[in-house]
Amino acid sequence: MTIHGSRARMATRFTASVAALLLAMTMTACKKQTNLTGKWATAGKTLENGEQQKGILDLTQTGDQITGTVQDLGGKFPVKGKVTGTHFELWGAEWNDPKPFMTADLTDQAIQGKWWDDNFTGKPATAADEIQPPAYIEPPALHPVPYDGLAKTPPMGWNSWNLFAEKVDDQTVRTMADAMVSSGMKDAGYIYVNIDDTWEGVRDANGVLGTNHKFPDMKALADYVHSKGLKIGIYSGPGPRTCGGYPASYGYEEQDAKMYAGWGIDYLKYDWCSAGTIYKNDKLQPVYQKMGQALHDTGRPIVFSLCEYGLGDVQKWGPEVGGNLWRTTGDIRDEWNSMLDNIHKQVPTAAYAGPGHWNDPDMLEIGNGHMSDDEYRTHMSLWALTAAPLLAGNDIRKMTDATKSILLNKEVIAVDQDPLGKQASPVKNGNLESWVKPLKDGGVAVGVVNLDSAPANATVKAGDLGLKGSPHSARDLWAHKDVKFANGEYSASVPAHGVLMLRVR
Ligand code: GLA
Repeated sequence: MTIHGSRARMATRFTASVAALLLAMTMTACKKQTNLTGKWATAGKTLENGEQQKGILDLTQTGDQITGTVQDLGGKFPVKGKVTGTHFELWGAEWNDPKPFMTADLTDQAIQGKWWDDNFTGKPATAADEIQPPAYIEPPALHPVPYDGLAKTPPMGWNSWNLFAEKVDDQTVRTMADAMVSSGMKDAGYIYVNIDDTWEGVRDANGVLGTNHKFPDMKALADYVHSKGLKIGIYSGPGPRTCGGYPASYGYEEQDAKMYAGWGIDYLKYDWCSAGTIYKNDKLQPVYQKMGQALHDTGRPIVFSLCEYGLGDVQKWGPEVGGNLWRTTGDIRDEWNSMLDNIHKQVPTAAYAGPGHWNDPDMLEIGNGHMSDDEYRTHMSLWALTAAPLLAGNDIRKMTDATKSILLNKEVIAVDQDPLGKQASPVKNGNLESWVKPLKDGGVAVGVVNLDSAPANATVKAGDLGLKGSPHSARDLWAHKDVKFANGEYSASVPAHGVLMLRVR
């Protein structure tokens, strides 16, 4: 008993001290576990070209709030976030995105979670983990790149990114080209079939950038697209890497431009992303000029699409670098607020749109399923009224009748493609917003958008249209019927988030 008793006491004392030790260890661990401050090296998905996505999170945690930067192969950007226990979420500090791009947990000095939809892990970073930029290349002195005569009206076509992202391949592009013809998209004017990011392979010892396994023969693909009477576009960027982390054109501008021309490429979207880790925004113009000149020097007419999210007052110098269109905003999402936000950000650039050079509020989300058909009609109308490029971002191979009727509305397309090339600006009246676009024939197109989530009555007053004389009638471009003005005005009910769009002569 005694022995038992004393053993038991010893055991109790032992158990108590082990418990205290464990508690102390756990507390220390807990303290470490919930503090994200520091640099973390991450390893993410394997890219389509076999390389692994890597990154550096440089975070400061204050209470449950996080600030800092996140860098991956594609670039570096400021973030904000919040911590709940061992769980944390990060958002781009400058993005207007309700969804966090990273949701992860910190346990045992390691991070594990999702970066967008992909699994990733992280560990405390050492100097060897830093993503080293290549040697600095001074951009060329400024000079105007001659206008190539392209894009006299806003470019129209299809782009792979909004729906397919990295899931685009040769077969998708071929079947999409087929569908562009069979659906009537080509006849309606959508002629560019544009491959976005994730086609790239690796650069060989001669600097030649190969395609990855998804695109076995880009020249053959271009020939196929051309055989359908369509044109083909491709994607790169002025930095070492594209936004997706694939090799981009830094230091290889002329070589890449020649290769695109050799393949028969007709359109290049050129995305800033990792160039921002090398150059400040005051170098945007010469850096874009470098590729603009390289494209021009190929002798092949290639539409030059600048993708720099509205940085550096691009609208003021875009044409000088040979740009035919330039992004005025961050990425669109298939969501009413995002679509509206993008078109509103485009407003200050209105004076700079015109034949050959266009403001680009990003590609269309029509038909991708997360807005109502009324909202998609508004999306299409606003892009047309602002003379925005019309690059469909949905699956053209399987469109609903509603989607077809929106993308293929030739009367609305004619407003977008009007040769005068004017970009409408909005006038707000309560929950109604009116956009008036002067047209080449002396008439106007007017769109009244109902921002409310209940139907509203819209009145178009002849006196607000800047026309000579008072119109008697107009064309309703969504109802496809003529309507009459009475006492100098026309009224109609507009559904929630819908639009009344008229063409008035
Ligand atoms: C950026 C662009 C998008 C798309 C992706 C591809 O986010 O703005 O339009 O091209 O890169 O990585």
